[in-house]
Amino acid sequence: MLDDIERILFQEQTIRERIDALAREVTDAYRGKEFVVIAVMNGALVFAADLVRRIPLPLRLDCLSVASYHGGVESSGFVTFDQLTLPDVKGRHVLIVDDILDTGRTLHAIGERLRAEAAPESIQICVLLRKDKQRAESLEADFVGFDIRDEFVVGYGLDYAERYRNLPFVGVLRTEIFSGRSAPD
Ligand code: IMP
Ligand code: MG
Repeated sequence: MLDDIERILFQEQTIRERIDALAREVTDAYRGKEFVVIAVMNGALVFAADLVRRIPLPLRLDCLSVASYHGGVESSGFVTFDQLTLPDVKGRHVLIVDDILDTGRTLHAIGERLRAEAAPESIQICVLLRKDKQRAESLEADFVGFDIRDEFVVGYGLDYAERYRNLPFVGVLRTEIFSGRSAPD
């Protein structure tokens, strides 16, 4: 598995230190507010687990399962929700936590659906990584761990074809691993 990684972008320790600071930012923003953290599964699993444990505020934790990649390395453009019911966030402040902001389609779709069907008081977005690229949806993240170049990364929750999520660092996958398979499944 480690042989499949071209180079490491962020080591475990670097991620830990950055999340310490990010958690302080989130804590300052939500102090005194009722809020719900919604982790976007499966990619945000590791990040959200580390983040919420550093936020010393009463919060509710929920998750949403969506998919937009369907196994490839390019966003398919279709966002599918696995659950029929949304988390109960009526009148509450919501912090959506995701692994990465790429085209923005996933977070845009989640925000739209929550606003239309779940009547939250507010929605903010927190991502571990933000790719430097033109986004399909104009969408800003409110809390960002690291800005990265537009390349395919894995580890610390991020996958390629459901693999590599358990790597403790974030790294760039060797192109030969996905070459010939770049179209979504
Ligand atoms: P978006 O809808 O294009 O912004 O894609 C967001 C989702 O695609 C993220 O939640 C990830 O699950 C996945 N994704 C985007 N870029 C990468 C990457 O470089 N590696 C692994 N997954 C990615
Ligand atoms: Mg994801």
